[in-house]
Amino acid sequence: MPEEIIVAHESENLTGTVRVSGAKNSALKLVAASLLGQGKTVIHNVPLISDVSIMAEVLRCLGSQVERQGHTLTIDTSTVDSCKTPYNLVSKMRASISVLGPLVGRFGRAEVAMPGGCQIGARKIDMHLVGMQQLGVHFENDHGFLVASTPNGLHGGTIMLEFPSVGATENTMMAAVVAEGVTIIDNAAREPEIEDLANMLNAMGARITGAGTACIRIEGVPLSSMHPCEHYTVGDRIEAGTFLVGGALMGGPLTVEGVNPDHLRMAIMKLRAMGCEVETSDKSVTVRRSAPLQAVDIQTLPHPGFPTDLQAQFMLLTTLAQGNSIITENVFENRFMVAAEMSRMGADVTIEDHHALVRGVSRLQGADIEATDLRAGAALVLGGLIAEGTTRVHNIKHIDRGYEDYVGKLASLGAKVERVVVEDCEL
Ligand code: EPZ
Repeated sequence: MPEEIIVAHESENLTGTVRVSGAKNSALKLVAASLLGQGKTVIHNVPLISDVSIMAEVLRCLGSQVERQGHTLTIDTSTVDSCKTPYNLVSKMRASISVLGPLVGRFGRAEVAMPGGCQIGARKIDMHLVGMQQLGVHFENDHGFLVASTPNGLHGGTIMLEFPSVGATENTMMAAVVAEGVTIIDNAAREPEIEDLANMLNAMGARITGAGTACIRIEGVPLSSMHPCEHYTVGDRIEAGTFLVGGALMGGPLTVEGVNPDHLRMAIMKLRAMGCEVETSDKSVTVRRSAPLQAVDIQTLPHPGFPTDLQAQFMLLTTLAQGNSIITENVFENRFMVAAEMSRMGADVTIEDHHALVRGVSRLQGADIEATDLRAGAALVLGGLIAEGTTRVHNIKHIDRGYEDYVGKLASLGAKVERVVVEDCEL
């Protein structure tokens, strides 16, 4: 069975300027939120990635018309006639659970296939349910489908999230915008993508304040007053951070454009702690390094803490740093699988529960390796650029889920990297 892989050769440097795409972890929710307005919503700066294609398919299954022109999606929800999502699409992408809140807001009910777990963890949705139950939503399990109903209508409530879950904050917020009365979400997620979603909902007629802080207040408005809008997706801070790690690894200077540097404060702090020089302007970040990489300790935490989505990329950096680094993964229960792949390249990583001890080595060697999730895959390709020889990264569908033209963007920065279809016998 032929397989498309990414082949990365030892490269001189990664230098120049790259413009990041719109944020995957915002765009998916913006598409879902369009269900709350009858008519044509236009979303710009949408990344060309497979997860967005799946979410667009989910909206079409609900009866929407979805058209893409380049990085712009036009979603006409005036023909939406179903509140049931198909299992085959939800099983492909758990983020499709993000239609739950808008469907409950629009129809007062929803039937969403229960999302499965994935490589990095169980990915439960209990906090989504607890949050929405405070708004009068009842849930039942029906043969793998979550059936939501609002027998007494959708009303405001006070929600205290046990953990600042991004998805739970988003689903609860999207249902609350058309609930009767005021909703307070306490211990809310503070990720920039939450703010981006709230900005779009407010442009549609919602009344949300406090998005981006731990306490979000939503004053419910009638569904009939919600209307379509035009919105520009926030730049992808994780894609930007991935390229900055590449510049830190190879020396740079490498500039990322199209991202708000404020969304990368913790990552920038850690790059500086590892011996990099980092300069920022209002819409770009530049990294360069001439001194040896220094070891660093990292704890992943909800925003503004260190982002778990940059953990694999920084682990790669620490494998070549002088000294020992400790990386603690506090957000997902199984997000160290990349370590085994890096070890195949000669890295020295020991995993103990949710801690990784990384002892810096002087060189990595090219090898055949597997992308275990999209961020790990992106990190491993970077590893192949600095490793001696050639690295072949398999399972690259993970990378295509969240990185638009990753190989093309890296090649534009001087990387010797390509996508190749190989036959079984070559694997
Ligand atoms: C979003 O996932 C992102 N995905 C993830 O990005 C990101 O890593 C994560 O937020 C944290 O920033 C999208 O936005 C599509 P959570 P989400 O709810 O919403 C547990 C990437 O690489 N939890 O904040 O699922 C959960 O299992 C992806 O782009 C519950 O236990 O994250 C996890 O351990 C990976 N019950 C932790 O909380 C719940 O009801 C954080 O989950 C909800 C979550």
